[in-house]
Amino acid sequence: ELGKIADAMGLEAFLVGGFVRDLVMSHKNEDFDVVVEGDGIAFARRFAQVHGYRVHSHSEFGTAVIIMEDGFKIDVASARFEYYASPASLPVVETSSLKMDLYRRDFTVNTMAIQINEKSFGTLIDYFGAQRDIKAKAIRVLHNLSFVEDPTRVFRAIRFEQRYGFSIGKLTSNLIKNAVKMDFFRHLSGRRLFSELKLILEDENPIGAVDRMAGYNLLPFIHPDLDFGPEKQDLFESVKEVLTWHDLQFMDDSYMKWAVQFLALFHGFDQDQVDAALLRLEIAPKFHDLFYEHRQYGRQCLYRLEREDKMVNSELYRMLTLLPTEMLLFLLARAKSKKAKRRLTRFLTELKGVACLLSGKTLKQMGIKPGPIYKKVLDAVLDARLDGKVFTFEDEMALAV
Ligand code: CTP
Repeated sequence: ELGKIADAMGLEAFLVGGFVRDLVMSHKNEDFDVVVEGDGIAFARRFAQVHGYRVHSHSEFGTAVIIMEDGFKIDVASARFEYYASPASLPVVETSSLKMDLYRRDFTVNTMAIQINEKSFGTLIDYFGAQRDIKAKAIRVLHNLSFVEDPTRVFRAIRFEQRYGFSIGKLTSNLIKNAVKMDFFRHLSGRRLFSELKLILEDENPIGAVDRMAGYNLLPFIHPDLDFGPEKQDLFESVKEVLTWHDLQFMDDSYMKWAVQFLALFHGFDQDQVDAALLRLEIAPKFHDLFYEHRQYGRQCLYRLEREDKMVNSELYRMLTLLPTEMLLFLLARAKSKKAKRRLTRFLTELKGVACLLSGKTLKQMGIKPGPIYKKVLDAVLDARLDGKVFTFEDEMALAV
């Protein structure tokens, strides 16, 4: 369908980037990136118009996003000559603008394109040895200035390497070491550094990636004291187990995976160190509670969970209901004793979702005058339910009265 529009407009259009990479490697990927030789925005608008889709465009970049009614998105970019003519020595004349566009990308594995015009639909274009490097399982930059152009690519290299079980090529590896030595990351904004780290920590196997970052001495760019010794590796293993357990158990519960991993990464840090790391990464204030109040309170909770002999359900509930899922999962990963682990899993699986049958409305119907008493009554009813003292609605009514 995209190809038809391209044909009608006399434009060459290609699928590019991660989608093609993952297609060639038989991985799932639903991010459609299209490059058009010519005016990508006009192309996106025409396509959207024909099909009744919406378009967001950025004329200064020549890019557009087509948004279909089911929310599915297609990114469209324009490959234009003038745009790439800046480094004066490039052989512009014999180079297609697609080739120039692909040459500016991070790694060879990301430089394939598939033509989508009808006449040559499906033709795989591989100018820079992407298929060769996929066979060799290698992550390689296209040129020596790649990390100068964009230091976040260092983190991307590690992410792709770990995700696909590849290795970073020798030259590329040396360029990373050079980037570290020359401190290319000094001017990297916290926002960009954070979003790369987040992607790494959200990926399937963050342990390998963090280990790699430690190996390249990248962790000190987050905080000078950050390390990844055996103890922290164990903690990461434990976090991984807990997250796998949780995701199987509660398929559609959403939580911030990266935040649990960050808690593990910063484990052992004092408040000043955490402070400095959050500042460096420009982590938004809305997340700060987790790393300050909740971290501190979580520590106290774990201490009690490990030591206290008796703890009835309502007590456990009142203590842990103040913590977000991310912290609860982190505490579960840290818990040493069977007792503490059991208590945390009991809260997560059985207690967290318990609610009493009575509500403010029913209390009103019962003729109780609204006021602070409501909270007291409902809390007491919920506690009784958690501790198995009431079962039916009538039980609750009787207790409320
Ligand atoms: N790209 C780049 N330099 C960057 C970021 C991206 O050259 N710092 C290029 C890559 O070639 C990539 C394309 O832009 O293929 C799209 O980027 P993105 O969507 O971030 O990456 P994907 O390759 O799709 O990876 P993922 O599967 O993680 O989304």
